[in-house]
Amino acid sequence: MASSSFLFLHVLVMLSLARMAFSDLSNDFYDDVCPEALPTIKQVVEDAVRQERRMGASLLRLHFHDCFVNGCDASILLDQTSTIDSEKTARANNNSARGFEVIDKIKFEVDKVCGRPVISCADILAVAAHDSLHGPTWEVPLGRRDSTTASRTTANNDIPTPFMDLPALIDNFKKQGLDEEDLVALSGGHTLGFAQCSTFRNRIYNDTNIDSTFASQRQENCPRSGSDSNLASLDPTPALFDSKYFSNLVSKKGLLHSDQALFSGGETDELVKTYSTNLRIFSKDFAESMIKMGNIKPLTGNQGQIRVDCRKGPQLTRRRRPQKAFDAPLHIGGSSSSAHASTHPQDPLSAVLKAKISPVKAAEDFYVDAA
Ligand code: HEM
Ligand SMILES: *[C@@H]1O[C@H](CO)[C@@H](O)[C@H](O)[C@H]1NC(C)=O
Ligand SMILES: *[C@@H]1O[C@H](CO)[C@@H](O)[C@H](O)[C@H]1NC(C)=O
Repeated sequence: MASSSFLFLHVLVMLSLARMAFSDLSNDFYDDVCPEALPTIKQVVEDAVRQERRMGASLLRLHFHDCFVNGCDASILLDQTSTIDSEKTARANNNSARGFEVIDKIKFEVDKVCGRPVISCADILAVAAHDSLHGPTWEVPLGRRDSTTASRTTANNDIPTPFMDLPALIDNFKKQGLDEEDLVALSGGHTLGFAQCSTFRNRIYNDTNIDSTFASQRQENCPRSGSDSNLASLDPTPALFDSKYFSNLVSKKGLLHSDQALFSGGETDELVKTYSTNLRIFSKDFAESMIKMGNIKPLTGNQGQIRVDCRKGPQLTRRRRPQKAFDAPLHIGGSSSSAHASTHPQDPLSAVLKAKISPVKAAEDFYVDAA
């Protein structure tokens, strides 16, 4: 008797550990190096969202599209160069992903307040996604580092499309280590923001699992051809983190084909119903699944880099101190043709940043021009 209830407890503990997923990240990662970092990120996000409410949605989506492509490593932020295969023009992102200027602003302010670039762009994306919601809060695990590469092909392959049915969505999330509950909870991100006509045209003209009044209403602003970028909100309250996204699915008013797929006679129907009437449970599950998503393949330790400019990969190769000192040309913080040019030319304070980064790393490493 006693041993069987012990076994039962043991199994419960194992199950809850399995759901938490082990992580190299930690909640207090920047507490000693730069305690002002997190409040600074929050401040810039708040300002941006106050200026344009939709920016909250856009920042949440950036983190998602970052994590689904080779892990949460800020690869989505890298601009196209001869060596970077930018994800920004991948199908799901081109003329769609937004908020890059806000991330630049955060990075600039955070590096200024910290006195040096210690916060990764990948962590900024994770924290910004959390701060943008005006919804549930949780402690965001931190310590991700930034990639040195990007992949448009992987973005095209791994970011789910709005035309997928339930099995494809489940499979897509499974490849990221996320289960059906994560799929439903995280799709609840569509309680915020908007989608373009081209992403839901097929649904409002051709789908049968759709409320007909809703379809006609949406058709008014999304013709059979043209006006591809006309917007419609993903749920009736695109500025509120609420359960309307789910109650909407229950009334067959999901905007995307992939949204309605979560409530169309499949195994996720029950969970959609639960969330549709219970914001508290949705919020709790959303927070848990966001932590899981934020844990997808992070770079940690000395993997990757901490970027100075979130848009730029390594212009600098990092070398161990040469045996014979001074036998390599030294451009700490970059020369006018490399690192400095890598920060935004229109950014008047890039020189300040540049001045602040050099002493820190110079003690241990030489930064040498790659070119
Ligand atoms: C389940 C698979 C998913 C698919 C197929 C999907 C697809 C889409 C599409 C097509 C749009 C509209 C983009 C446009 O028209 O420019 C969109 C917007 C959005 N998605 Fe998703 N999405 C999915 C999951 C998620 C997840 C997991 C999150 C976050 C946790 C998320 C957050 C958002 C947000 C906030 C917007 C609005 C963005 C804005 O207004 O700028 N989506 N999604
Ligand atoms: C991205 O969108 C632009 C239009 O703004 C278009 O010219 C370009 O071909 C698109 N890129 C890809 C790779 O689809
Ligand atoms: C609807 O489906 C038909 C037949 O499959 C197709 O020819 C048509 O292009 C579709 N319409 C839209 C708006 O996707």
